[in-house]
Amino acid sequence: MIVHEKNYQTVWMEGQSVFMIDQNKLPFEFEIHECKTYWDSCMAITDMTVRGAGAIGAAAGYAMAQAYLEAPEDDIDTFVTEARADIESTRPTARNLFYAVEKVFEAGKVSRVNATITAQKIAAADAEDSWKIGQYGNELIKKSTRILTHCNAGWLAFVDYGTALSPIYQAHKSGKEVFVYVDETRPRGQGARLTAWELQQQGVPHLIIPDNAAASLMADKKIDLIIVGADRIARNGDVANKIGTYGCAVLAHYHQIPFYVAAPGSTFDMECASGKDIIIEHRNAEEVLFQDGMDANHNRVRIRIASPGSNAYNPAFDITPARLITGIITEKGIIKAHAQSIKAVLKE
Ligand code: MRU
Repeated sequence: MIVHEKNYQTVWMEGQSVFMIDQNKLPFEFEIHECKTYWDSCMAITDMTVRGAGAIGAAAGYAMAQAYLEAPEDDIDTFVTEARADIESTRPTARNLFYAVEKVFEAGKVSRVNATITAQKIAAADAEDSWKIGQYGNELIKKSTRILTHCNAGWLAFVDYGTALSPIYQAHKSGKEVFVYVDETRPRGQGARLTAWELQQQGVPHLIIPDNAAASLMADKKIDLIIVGADRIARNGDVANKIGTYGCAVLAHYHQIPFYVAAPGSTFDMECASGKDIIIEHRNAEEVLFQDGMDANHNRVRIRIASPGSNAYNPAFDITPARLITGIITEKGIIKAHAQSIKAVLKE
């Protein structure tokens, strides 16, 4: 992704440090955050400096590699086992995190350098898979398609290209004149802050809509296609994604609008029989009660937007049942959201 005429990935590792675009500062400031230790990387995942399933997967893989590099010669095993537990407790829902940590943990048993090589490979594969998802997803997009997306499953949520937005970028590049409606995605506003910023960088025409406007847009026949990302997909095709995705899927079903999920193999969890087995992260009530922004003088501000004294309930993800999903766009093609198709594609 080109930002300020330079090619960036969302997260990368150089030497012993992990670097990432600071997503808490976007869209107001573009800054690179450095994590010198595995613990710094854990903090960055927890506070969402890096977020989005693929990006936190890559960051977690790098964190595991950092732990191997930091481990004392006389007690590598204890150090990396404790580090693994720390990394795995940063965020519970995105499958990619656990996928990457396990692979790098095993690779490190061969040698420290093998852990780093494996983490780099996982990040490279994430970008490559996202590119392929874009190619398959582009086949669904006709000229002048109006697409709704929820949250941010663009290149910021992965190492590059993204999942839900990758087909949109490829369609736009090929001159299909796509138009994107961006759900703002309360409470953290990943749509309004990150997806809108990404689309702007790429010159893709778009409008931000309040989450609760989607229903009337669908009723007014202003949306032809919906593409969202995924944080974890169960064996039966149920999908965990950003809170509000389920609502979009129910509406799409009612209005007979195709509803696609875009995700790489690293998001599927064959150990989860259905969405009921997926752990949903609950985040701090402050995300609902307060908003961060920038004032007219370009100063960062944080204001309370809810009634003082009231508290909030803040589940970060919801489950969309497989029966509401038209198809899943993977790096190996578009599949049905059911067990046999998922098994077949993961076996390939
Ligand atoms: O809480 P986040 O911002 O890490 O949420 C993850 C997401 O970005 C979304 O759920 C997204 O739609 C799928 S992950 C690319």
